[in-house]
Amino acid sequence: MGYREELPYDKGIDNTLSFLNQGYLYITNQRKRLNRDMFKTRILGGKQVVCMAGKEAAEVFYDNDKFKRDGAAPSRVLNTLFGQDGVQTLDGEEHAHRKTMFMDLMTKDSLEEIATLVEKEWMKALPLWEKEEQVVLYDEIKKILTLAVCQWTGVPTHDQDIDVLSEQLGDMYESAEKIGFQHIKGKQSRKKVEKWLEKLIVDIRSDQEITLKDTPLYKIAMHRDLNNQLLDKHTATVEVLNLLRPTVAISVYIALSALALHSFPEKKEKLKMSDATYQKMFVQEIRRYYPFFPVAPAIVKKDFLWDGHDFKEGTLVLLDLYGNNHHPSLWKNPNEFMPERFKDWDKSPFDLIPQGGGEYVSGHRCAGEWLTIEVMKKCLDIMVNKMDYTVPPQDLEIKMNEMPSVPKSGFIMENVKRI
Ligand code: HEM
Repeated sequence: MGYREELPYDKGIDNTLSFLNQGYLYITNQRKRLNRDMFKTRILGGKQVVCMAGKEAAEVFYDNDKFKRDGAAPSRVLNTLFGQDGVQTLDGEEHAHRKTMFMDLMTKDSLEEIATLVEKEWMKALPLWEKEEQVVLYDEIKKILTLAVCQWTGVPTHDQDIDVLSEQLGDMYESAEKIGFQHIKGKQSRKKVEKWLEKLIVDIRSDQEITLKDTPLYKIAMHRDLNNQLLDKHTATVEVLNLLRPTVAISVYIALSALALHSFPEKKEKLKMSDATYQKMFVQEIRRYYPFFPVAPAIVKKDFLWDGHDFKEGTLVLLDLYGNNHHPSLWKNPNEFMPERFKDWDKSPFDLIPQGGGEYVSGHRCAGEWLTIEVMKKCLDIMVNKMDYTVPPQDLEIKMNEMPSVPKSGFIMENVKRI
């Protein structure tokens, strides 16, 4: 008999409202109040859920023998953020096979290519920004990333209005936890973009020259599953969107990078004087310090005992991603912005987990984490070394109950100049 204890409970028939009101801090607040890194609560219509944080908790959470993803994501997330039947919902061999399709796209050359495309589009935009009185960085970067990722994936955009497309891709990740109009807008945007991409998949499969054969779009359209079958056209579309949508979402991190440069000017000076190592540490600290996804969900595959708690088959478990990035036993002064902390970091796959933890192919860790880091490094370099700007008074608040959280003003720049 292993050691067992009753888990503390956040009482209430449904704590969804508390979760939404406290946002990224809901799990942290309850962990502090209940004095335990693991507790039970009821959310999503009174469903019993276990929330947990910590390095060991993350290690257990990413153990494929203990947890599965099929059925873990709520339908409002599938309808906007993920799409139906994408890699996020798969388990076991089927997952590893599909995930390999993604990870094979993330070669060193290919990551360099997307970063270079982002720089090219940013440099094209700069002369236009110089003529503007004000530039809302978050909105502009969404367009730059849309243009870059469509070129990188080989998705033709000649029939698309980039302003509209970038807004639609943004709607998908901005609307997952929203209610009312914004959520509906997210669903509609997904439907419209899926319809357009599905046609491209069909055209590629009927031998029309839509894109080159070495592009991610072509590779996904022609990818074969474990039974040597093409993905159904909707699933293939969802997977193409699994490249486009999150790449545009890097705009959140770029707006937050601009905020960090503004909030910590001494670090900006250090960046100017330093080499690539400090730049990478700065990027890691942005991903640790600022919120993005609050949690990752999974379902207990079969009963097991861990840390005194009986995990019962079928239970929904949420891993506190934001909480791990700020856990006081994992990070010294976790609420301080300190890129230097990464100097001696042991690169554990279970403490810095803004994009999930564990393994890439066998687990659900973000397929685009390296791409995100490369693009962020390039954008940081542009903001620090290739342009000047002033930051007028504006509302730069980051709301802890908005997911994802972007500076309220979108980060306004004035007097933009190339240097
Ligand atoms: C904007 C920054 C990004 C953040 C904060 C982010 C975050 C995440 C998180 C939290 C997960 C889930 C981890 C889990 O379930 O355990 C994930 C999965 C995923 N991400 Fe990202 N991501 C980002 C960028 C990207 C990019 C740029 C791509 C592709 C180009 C991408 C593609 C994916 C895919 C395909 C998955 C599913 C992986 C799987 O289920 O095996 N993400 N991401």
